[in-house]
Amino acid sequence: MASQFLFLALIAITCSIALATDPSSLQDFCVADPVRSVPVNGLVCKDPRFVEANDFSFSGLHLAGNTSNTVGSHVTSVNVAQIAGLNTLGISIARIDYAPWGVNSPHTHPRASEVLTVLEGSLQVGFITSHPENRLITKILHVGDVFVFPVGLLHFQRNIGYGNAVAIAALSSQNPGVITIANAVFGSNPDISSDVLTRTFQVDKDTIYNFQSRF
Ligand SMILES: *[C@@H]1O[C@H](CO)[C@@H](O)[C@H](O)[C@H]1NC(C)=O
Repeated sequence: MASQFLFLALIAITCSIALATDPSSLQDFCVADPVRSVPVNGLVCKDPRFVEANDFSFSGLHLAGNTSNTVGSHVTSVNVAQIAGLNTLGISIARIDYAPWGVNSPHTHPRASEVLTVLEGSLQVGFITSHPENRLITKILHVGDVFVFPVGLLHFQRNIGYGNAVAIAALSSQNPGVITIANAVFGSNPDISSDVLTRTFQVDKDTIYNFQSRF
């Protein structure tokens, strides 16, 4: 009986961890305090008496980001760094602008699933499942289409039109984090040893140095 209870308790704990992204809130809100910097999991709460509407607000998501860069896309993030009131709420939002044929390079969010809505243009989107399948799940999206990228999985978007494209991404973390594969692998600081990367990618050192010089 006791062991059965223990087993059920273990299942309950495992499920709650598997379902959770950011830990859930224990109060109405916990607006991040910009002055106090005690290291906790999240950010320290500001005194609720001094909380105001602006702590829950951001302006400017109607403005297009500057896509004049090598990939032809720009992400305007609105997470807990922009809205202190998002602290402990487990959500955030972003606007993504794409130049014609621009790409939001393969990346992952270690702490969030993402729901992407196309507001303008057409996008090819995709994510890749875990090892060993590495299955590419991909789709063409048009205005009004919504697509989900499951937490942690590698994903990308590409503008497949001659005009600009715009999307809004909702994310299940106040601080989703971004790991852009090319930048992480070839632009780490300091560099990953070329011995590791020549073996990994099965190419010579000059090819690796070439890639490293770009990130
Ligand atoms: C966009 O970025 C490019 C490259 O950094 C820069 O030259 C250009 O002035 C920027 N455009 C605007 C409108 O800010």
